[in-house]
Amino acid sequence: MGSEEITSTPEGRTHFRELLAIGLVASVIGVVLGLVIDWFPTQASEEGERVDTLWDVLIIFSVPVFVLVIVVVLYCVWRYRMKPGEELKDGPPIHGNTKLEIVWTAIPAIILVALCSYAYVVLRDVEKADAAGVLDVEVVGQQFTWTFFYKDPAGKRIASPQLYVPRGRQVNFTVKSDDVIHDFWVPAFRLKIDAVPGISTHLRATPKTLGDYPVVCAELCGLGHAAMRQTAHVVEPAEFEQWLANGGRPPGEPGEAGEAGEDAGAPDGKALFADNGCGGCHALADAGTTGGTGPNLDEALADKDAAFIEESIVDPSAEIAEGFSDIMPPNFEQTLQPEELDALVKYLDEVAGR
Ligand code: CUA
Repeated sequence: MGSEEITSTPEGRTHFRELLAIGLVASVIGVVLGLVIDWFPTQASEEGERVDTLWDVLIIFSVPVFVLVIVVVLYCVWRYRMKPGEELKDGPPIHGNTKLEIVWTAIPAIILVALCSYAYVVLRDVEKADAAGVLDVEVVGQQFTWTFFYKDPAGKRIASPQLYVPRGRQVNFTVKSDDVIHDFWVPAFRLKIDAVPGISTHLRATPKTLGDYPVVCAELCGLGHAAMRQTAHVVEPAEFEQWLANGGRPPGEPGEAGEAGEDAGAPDGKALFADNGCGGCHALADAGTTGGTGPNLDEALADKDAAFIEESIVDPSAEIAEGFSDIMPPNFEQTLQPEELDALVKYLDEVAGR
């Protein structure tokens, strides 16, 4: 059936109207579904608003195109199918229609160029540096963890296993890798960027909603890739300053400053076990954890001494328990203060296997 025939015979015009009506109804349903369904997790950054709007606009333009193509294909398969008695009939010879072909090339080209331009403007806006008060955070990926580096008020470098950021202030993330390619992704911020060995990449985000959000590695980087998850804490600026002044420790916990109180001298090993996420991978009866990714500590550490426990924490690759993989984060020596490491070792030595 040539395209001219479609609109030049009464039957063809009826078919064309049917096609148009079905396509229109299906497009509206598709667009409404695309906009109504909540596809994404909580949105927690100002850049995220622009990204989500971009997504909505892409849905509005791309769903009708998709629906139109599918409707035409399905309609033609059904309407012009072979009927009994037509087995030996050849279809009508079809010639091109130059006018139609120009239209169906030009319209998609215009839509594509417009959407690309809009996406480019959004990207440029999202990457623009705020005039004042940008917070610099260095993010280092390694198999299989993230470490976040800050400068405390005295200019000293602080390493943290968790991401803390203040609400309402732009953060400039400088992203690096110590080994293979990882990808720093905070879904709630709607932004991600590769961590590539040998170079620094950058990403800017302005957190706007208080809360805890996952930090995910979005590049397959080895056996422990799926476990390469941490938490981004968006907190009030005052709380962030306190956290920073406290050496990257939640207020109330003894940090570098050591000013959290009289009895703050000895960190609490059990609290450290919980704060550092050990229970996510390790079962330990005393802490009530049941993680199965790493060895059960009640069994693995029952007859081990403090020196073995310490080595297992700071250099987990030195000895791998049978049946397990070398995927424990190797950055605890960086992120734990010496007295915290001592407290954690002491705690494990005391409770494991009891
Ligand atoms: Cu790091 Cu996947």
